[in-house]
Amino acid sequence: MRVIRTIEEMRRLRPELGRLGLVPTMGALHAGHVSLVEVMRDRVKRATGVLDSTAVSVFVNPTQFAPHEDFHRYPRPLEDDLAMCEGAGVDLVFAPSVEEMYRPGEVRVSMDPGMLARRWEGELRPGHFAGVCQVVAKLFNILTPSWACFGEKDFQQLAVLRAMTGSLDYGIGIVAGPTRRDADGLAMSSRNRYLSPAQRARALAIPRAIRATQKAYADGEKSVQALERVLREALLRDETSSGVEVELQYAVIVDPETLEPLAGGEGTELRTLADESRILVAVKVGTTRLIDNAALVQLPNH
Ligand code: PAJ
Repeated sequence: MRVIRTIEEMRRLRPELGRLGLVPTMGALHAGHVSLVEVMRDRVKRATGVLDSTAVSVFVNPTQFAPHEDFHRYPRPLEDDLAMCEGAGVDLVFAPSVEEMYRPGEVRVSMDPGMLARRWEGELRPGHFAGVCQVVAKLFNILTPSWACFGEKDFQQLAVLRAMTGSLDYGIGIVAGPTRRDADGLAMSSRNRYLSPAQRARALAIPRAIRATQKAYADGEKSVQALERVLREALLRDETSSGVEVELQYAVIVDPETLEPLAGGEGTELRTLADESRILVAVKVGTTRLIDNAALVQLPNH
């Protein structure tokens, strides 16, 4: 496995790699990240028969963090990350420094991430998706992959990046990987390591609330407002009685393509509830922000 730290080195090596599949990450890798490498390999090989090499990028991108967010304390266990990539049969890891990606003194250019970035994460984290699009565009230009894989765990990010790739004609195939969960149902996340045992136990309300909403829908509840009530009540119910604070940031059911709320936000048309409608959740457990999502009816392989 090659570990590349500079853009120049990457460009020099690029011709040897053939048709390349890329999994962009910020490191602190877990089984969810690794699963994206496998999903991409399987899907691309089945669909096209050609995938010459796979790359993972590891870069904690400062431009997608707001000043008060966790950029400085974000975990950076590079040696462990490299071992996980090696184990997954990755051919190349691109792990540049901040100065390599954002040259000091250089005039910075970024883009408008578009309509899908306006609500939810975009509203709570101003500038976040502009930063995500900026770094992913740079990675696309530096590594020139034929495919890139992103997780459904970050459902809005996936939608924003799909739109960017299509709208700017990158000609890169976007592959979506299902959300991997720990045995207790919590979606894997690099930020889970910030949670104390009590906070982690309290965070299990997230998968529990999603399942309760799916069950209510399966049992015949077809009112968006009623389903959102089930979701919010289950999130706020402290079954652990630990007193760990949970702040509900959003808990909504949205159209899976436009990400518009089904309950009818101001100036939006009411869209109809369907099996594919998406439950989106963001909560703060203590100081840690956690997000999760699922379709109202989950496909069997998800
Ligand atoms: P990061 O949070 O490291 O996630 C990298 C990729 O792994 C993303 O596509 C994310 O959706 C996916 N992922 C995270 N947890 C997952 C899980 N439990 N199951 C499946 N996939 C999961 O997302 C980013 O980094 C950055 O914003 C990035 C796109 C790299 C740009 O900096």
